[in-house]
Amino acid sequence: MSNFLEIKNISKNYFNQKKVNVLKNLSYKFKKGKIYSLVGPSGSGKSTLLNILSLIDRPSKGNLVFDSKKINFDDRKINDQIRSNYIGIIYQEKNLLNDFTAIENISIAGIANGKSSKESLLISEKILKKLRLINRSNHFPSQLSGGENQRIAIGRVLINSPNIIIADEPSGNLDQKNAKEFFKLLFNLKSKKRIIIYATHNRYFANLADCRLQLINGKLKSINARK
Ligand SMILES: Nc1ncnc2c1ncn2[C@@H]1O[C@H](COP(=O)(O)OP(=O)(O)O)[C@@H](O)[C@H]1O
Ligand SMILES: [Mg+2]
Repeated sequence: MSNFLEIKNISKNYFNQKKVNVLKNLSYKFKKGKIYSLVGPSGSGKSTLLNILSLIDRPSKGNLVFDSKKINFDDRKINDQIRSNYIGIIYQEKNLLNDFTAIENISIAGIANGKSSKESLLISEKILKKLRLINRSNHFPSQLSGGENQRIAIGRVLINSPNIIIADEPSGNLDQKNAKEFFKLLFNLKSKKRIIIYATHNRYFANLADCRLQLINGKLKSINARK
């Protein structure tokens, strides 16, 4: 299967009082059709790596190859376009715009990516049905539970059918029941055309992935990949 996303000898350093070498010369090929979990202690660099994969942050050294093309991290405009066309991102919280309803939150994401508002609203309705949240369409984020907020965040991603979904501890604030529901929906998005990568502290959810990655002392290890 094609290597849609590949990192080559990526390092990331931060300079606080002293130099911190967070990622050390990482190389890895992510394959379409697979789901990856990323584990590692707090501060091991999971978010740093995911932010590089989402083209939000840049590596200190090394390359990222996306769809056979080397990313130029100086080219912010093109990278922003690549992100909005191909990458959907879900964080632990605050994925939604507070002043907009659930359905607006989803449709705005579609409009921002070039869909007409009419088309966007129609798709958003379908997505809300699929997420079993149609009865929450007109609720604002503050009127939704944490679990509902995170499910709407999936909707925001889904409307643009991204080839890559990146989720950084998306169930970190959810109880087990809501977390299970979240991951069930996320795993429903598995497709031959798509890579899904999520960071988690939860061993149970980490083990559901096709490939489990672990960050430890700045190195990436593939552990017990199912395929
Ligand atoms: N913007 C930054 N400036 C300086 N140090 C940072 C910055 N972002 C992260 N770090 C440091 O990099 C390390 C990895 O952080 P992070 O990627 O957030 O880890 P994780 O997501 O695994 O908890 C930590 O030691 C953190 O303090
Ligand atoms: Mg983190």
